[in-house]
Amino acid sequence: MTNIVIVGAQWGDEGKGKVIDLFAPKVDFIVRYQGGNNAGHTVVIGEDEFILHLVPSGILHKGKICVIGNGVVIDPKALLDEIETLEKKGIEIDGRLLVSEEAHVIFPYHKRLDEIKEEKKGKIGTTKKGIGPCYADKVARLGIRVIDLLDEATLKEKLHNNLEEKNAILTKIYMQEAFDFETIYREYLNYAKCIKKYVCDTAATLNDAIRKKKRILFEGAQGTLLDVDHGTYPFVTSSNSTAGGASTGTGVGPTKIDKVIGVVKAYTTRVGEGPFPTEFTKDLMGRIRQKGKEFGATTGRPRRCGWFDSLIVKHSIMINGIDEIVVTKLDVLDDLDSLKICTAYRFEGKVYNGFSSDVKVLTGCEPIYEELPGWKKDTTKITSYLKLPSNAKNYLKRIQVLLKTKIVLVSVGSDRRQTFSKGA
Ligand code: IMP
Repeated sequence: MTNIVIVGAQWGDEGKGKVIDLFAPKVDFIVRYQGGNNAGHTVVIGEDEFILHLVPSGILHKGKICVIGNGVVIDPKALLDEIETLEKKGIEIDGRLLVSEEAHVIFPYHKRLDEIKEEKKGKIGTTKKGIGPCYADKVARLGIRVIDLLDEATLKEKLHNNLEEKNAILTKIYMQEAFDFETIYREYLNYAKCIKKYVCDTAATLNDAIRKKKRILFEGAQGTLLDVDHGTYPFVTSSNSTAGGASTGTGVGPTKIDKVIGVVKAYTTRVGEGPFPTEFTKDLMGRIRQKGKEFGATTGRPRRCGWFDSLIVKHSIMINGIDEIVVTKLDVLDDLDSLKICTAYRFEGKVYNGFSSDVKVLTGCEPIYEELPGWKKDTTKITSYLKLPSNAKNYLKRIQVLLKTKIVLVSVGSDRRQTFSKGA
């Protein structure tokens, strides 16, 4: 049994798409367990770049079965558009994509409410895809699931009840236009017809597969610091992006999971609002953003960039039970004279050696850094760890020592071939 969870160990965009793509040939099923089309997993194959939002990245590997688990929130239009785009590129979907009947569905009022909240003070900097409002309805037990979508009478009743409430909020609190029941109802009945063939009890399918010794890869979206329980709350997404979400978001028990792999960038990025202790100042921000192409795969927003923060990654290792680390985008640091690694925070005279759940501390702290010399050499063509410049090896070794966790793979570019194992 080798069922693996791959999680982001920072604030998302660590390069999970590429890592999942590398592991996909070794497994039978690739499963998304949380989030929705707020995610953007980029995979580069030769000249072709694929950005996947809802469909698991494993779809690019012939014969692999891809599952959208119960923990995911689905915008059916986004899903159908993505399927169409993939099919146009010659990728076979039918018989390879399974959608959980228990996954919750995003409706236009979720997106509208997300947008309205983002116009107000205290915004989170969301992707405005309706993710938070949809999960809020799920937890409030008002949500409409895929199984409800497939039953005309249930959809009618639930949508009617939901719209009554949502329209009152929209018109009376936010002074916005109400949504028309009939328009949404017809539109979503149409979506239901199109997605019906993919829908099943995915928890049963996955557990049956495990009994038959099939291997599962659980594909985390976003990152640990965006987890609603363990991240920089309230500047987080609305799901459990950590490894624990792989169980609740698929119906596969934790005893069936063998390994957790954490993906980290060789530096740090985040999109949206919220604390970011090691954020660069303007000059370095611009340089690294351009070199690392740090623009959101879903929204196109420029990502905030900063030095490697060992405290947040140590927190991720603990929360996820990470066994091994993959370091991505090392090449982005090739030109720097020296590099900094954050090893502690100082706030109001007190030194913090670990992550703090207090946003005030993370926002106001001064990072304490170790400084290491840069390598000033192009690493993008390097094919083995041993051939890396010695300062690049020293940088990775220092990270490994600080994290007390083995780095198993290093990536120096977006292509599948620009990856090598770290060795001892
Ligand atoms: P939401 O998930 O759209 O509600 O956004 C909440 C926070 O998570 C915002 O800071 C987003 O920028 C961030 N976020 C959501 N999805 C991703 C992702 O895939 N990568 C990086 N950040 C994300």
